Amino acid sequence: MTVDGKITTRNFSPVDFTSREDKMHLFRQRSLGDAVLIGHSTLKQDNVRLGLPQPDLREARIARGQTPYPIRVIVSNEGKIDNRLKIFQSDISPILIFSTKRMPKRTRTALRQKAILYLSESQHVDLAGMLGALRSQYNVRTVACEGGATLFRSLLERGLVDQLNLTIAPYLFGGAKAPTLTGLSKEFLPASVHCSLTNMRVVGDECFLTYRIKRKAKL
Ligand SMILES: NC(=O)c1ccc[n+]([C@@H]2O[C@H](COP(=O)([O-])OP(=O)(O)OC[C@H]3O[C@@H](n4cnc5c(N)ncnc54)[C@H](OP(=O)(O)O)[C@@H]3O)[C@@H](O)[C@H]2O)c1
Repeated sequence: MTVDGKITTRNFSPVDFTSREDKMHLFRQRSLGDAVLIGHSTLKQDNVRLGLPQPDLREARIARGQTPYPIRVIVSNEGKIDNRLKIFQSDISPILIFSTKRMPKRTRTALRQKAILYLSESQHVDLAGMLGALRSQYNVRTVACEGGATLFRSLLERGLVDQLNLTIAPYLFGGAKAPTLTGLSKEFLPASVHCSLTNMRVVGDECFLTYRIKRKAKL
């Protein structure tokens, strides 16, 4: 995020305001997960494959007993996901989509060729249930969530985040309509979340922070 807490620009353009070091940091964090999780808007805007281009990161995974690439997990309530997105053109690892029966029939048919669909009866995806399914059915123990803000906020509200990796990039964007780390909602979180700083690294003008998410404190 920028110094003023913004995670994207006015037109929600893909994130390209951080350094090569930050992009490598993202790949390193992604490589630690058994699964990588992304919200539908970020997938659409950034059109990412969620791969790992660096052979050494894949080798380190194999040495740790993991698959070469993390399982890729997409969440969407509405389920109107375009099967032409780049992620569906790459078969490096399974793609799981957690959505609801709101997903149009035609979209289901198209996506079933490329991904495994979990469609709930309820209007919204049950995130804790999703993590439970990842654990019990795919033996996933570590999930690297790459946002965006809406998904991050939902996970945070349900107490499902245990670590936050935050890079402060040397810019100020301003703009009430540019999302912050927890999105655009005018609402406070149900309770403030206490973060404990466990690591800090400065490279050039960027600051790489790791927080342990401790507990919710009522304000
Ligand atoms: N600076 C950074 O590090 C960074 C990181 C990530 C993203 N971004 C930027 O953030 C912007 C997108 O932000 P965003 O907040 O709109 O993105 P988001 O969280 O990726 O996507 C929101 C959408 O994801 C689905 N979703 C989110 N939470 C859900 C939940 N609890 N259950 C079910 N579905 C859920 C919904 O999809 P449906 O609408 O399909 O129901 C929702 O509309 C993009 O511009 C992206 O580039 C920046």
